[in-house]
Amino acid sequence: MITGASRGLGLEFARQYGADSWTVLATCRDPVGVGELATIAGDIQVHGLDVTDHAQIERLADELSGVAMDVLINNAGLYGPRMDDADAVDYAQWRQVMETNALSPLKVATAFTPHVAAGSLKTIATLTSKMGSIADNTSGGAYIYRSSKAAVNAVMRSLAWDLKPQGINVILLHPGWVKTDMGGSNALIDAETSVSGLRRVIAETGPRETGSFFNYDGAPIPW
Ligand SMILES: NC(=O)c1ccc[n+]([C@@H]2O[C@H](COP(=O)([O-])OP(=O)(O)OC[C@H]3O[C@@H](n4cnc5c(N)ncnc54)[C@H](OP(=O)(O)O)[C@@H]3O)[C@@H](O)[C@H]2O)c1
Repeated sequence: MITGASRGLGLEFARQYGADSWTVLATCRDPVGVGELATIAGDIQVHGLDVTDHAQIERLADELSGVAMDVLINNAGLYGPRMDDADAVDYAQWRQVMETNALSPLKVATAFTPHVAAGSLKTIATLTSKMGSIADNTSGGAYIYRSSKAAVNAVMRSLAWDLKPQGINVILLHPGWVKTDMGGSNALIDAETSVSGLRRVIAETGPRETGSFFNYDGAPIPW
C-alpha cells in the first residue's frame, strides 16, 4: 500500500511494483481524477485517502480488514513554503506541513499495523529526507520542511522499537534529490532511479535493520 500515489515518487512506486506483478493498493486524495495512475499496468487498486483525515484512514483500515500487506509505504508529503528566514516563518503553513509529514505517517502506520503484521515482508517504510537529518544540517534554513522530517524520523524510530516484538521492520528512506513536482527540474536523479533503489533497500532490509535511516542507494544516513 502506498500513500500519495497520484504523482511523483508514489506514482513511480505503483508503476514499478505493478510491473513486478505485486498487488498495489494505491491511495491518493482524489481517486476519481487520478490521471496517470489509472493508466499504469498491473493489479492497481485505487483508494481515496487524504492522510490528514484520520477518520478516513480508520475507515479504509476497516474496509481492508483481513487484507495482508507486505509493505506499507508512507510516501505522501508536503514541502510547504521554503521559509529560510526565521523572522518570517508562516506558522499556519508550518502546522499543515507537520500534520502531513510527521503526524499522518504515524496515524497511517498504526491503523494498518494489523495488515502489515499479517504480511510476509512486514515492512513499514516512510519517505523522509536528508533535510531532516540534524547531523547533516550544515546550511540552515528550510525551517518548516526540515523540522517536519526530523520529527517523522523520531516518530518512526520510536515506532520501530514498539513494533519490534511483532517482527515489523520500520525504516526511514531518503529518495535522493529527485525530479518530481517537489524536487523540481534541477534535481539530480529521476523517479525511476530513485524508486528502483528504494525498492532494493526495502527488499534487502528486515527486522535487523528496523529503526534505520537509509539513502536510496542503501547507504546509512546519520540522524
Ligand atoms: N523529490 C525529492 O527530491 C524528495 C527529496 C526528499 C524527500 N522527498 C519525499 O518523498 C515523498 C514524495 O515526494 P515527491 O517528490 O513525489 O513529491 P510530489 O511530487 O510533490 O508529490 C507529493 C505526493 O504527496 C501527495 N500528498 C500530499 N499531501 C497529501 C495528503 N494530505 N494526503 C494524501 N496525499 C498527499 C500528493 O497528492 P496530490 O496529488 O493530491 O497533491 C502527491 O501524490 C515526500 O514525502 C517527500 O517529502 C522527496
